[in-house]
Amino acid sequence: MDFLHNLAKVTKELNGLSVVKALNRAIRKISACTHHFQHIIEWETAPPPPPEWYDHFLNQHWNWAGGMPWERGFFSALALKKGGRALELCCGDGFNAHNFYADHLSKIVAVDFDELAIKHAKKNFVNPKISYEVCDIRTSLPSGLFDNIIWDGAIEHFTEAEIAKLIANIKKCLTRDGILSGYTIVEKPDGTKSHHEHEYEFSSKEDLKRFFSPHFKRVQIFETFSSDRHNLYFYASNRTHLPLDSD
Ligand SMILES: C[S@@+](CC[C@H](N)C(=O)[O-])C[C@H]1O[C@@H](n2cnc3c(N)ncnc32)[C@H](O)[C@@H]1O
Repeated sequence: MDFLHNLAKVTKELNGLSVVKALNRAIRKISACTHHFQHIIEWETAPPPPPEWYDHFLNQHWNWAGGMPWERGFFSALALKKGGRALELCCGDGFNAHNFYADHLSKIVAVDFDELAIKHAKKNFVNPKISYEVCDIRTSLPSGLFDNIIWDGAIEHFTEAEIAKLIANIKKCLTRDGILSGYTIVEKPDGTKSHHEHEYEFSSKEDLKRFFSPHFKRVQIFETFSSDRHNLYFYASNRTHLPLDSD
């Protein structure tokens, strides 16, 4: 038995479980406080303006529901081919590649054009199945064919012309029955942007669908609502079955 197991035995014999629970409760409170503080520095204190990506440790340790990152990870994980190869575009901090996707796959290439995001991912989410790369997807995409391409919380960071071109290029990187999946946000009713880096916010499911339909036989788009967001999720593929088919 290792040190922790020996210590656990003694602690239990001494009825010390409640002390350990109290210690963990205190650590969680401190952690929530320091992560909230990090959020205020990064997102509520200018200059400089907030980054283009969110450190999802802030969700994990402080703001569990903010921005619905778990929903994103979960819905794209549903589309993954077990043991397949995936490409995550605009991966940001690498949280989802590491916590939601890598386990199902043999390999995942996760790219972002922000060097700081990739540095953060390499530092915090080391996994032999994941390779993080700096890449501006407007100019190139990683080589090879992928069973899944994931594009979460990022399609709205491109102009309409860029989105149309990117989807045509993405299609060329997918295997014959590969699936493109992802998430975006619906524009606010008052027309203000949710983030200063957003180039094009979608008005509806139909508005999003029109970009995929020219390239894919099957497109599934569905929506969810959270307190501050109207969310759109998509699956696009040439295969006959998609994750939310009734059968
Ligand atoms: C809101 S973040 C989403 C990050 C992550 N996918 C998530 O769901 O948390 C948008 C990401 O798109 C990246 N991005 C924007 N334009 C890009 C481009 N041209 N090439 C690659 N990444 C880009 C940003 O650096 C940022 O990390």
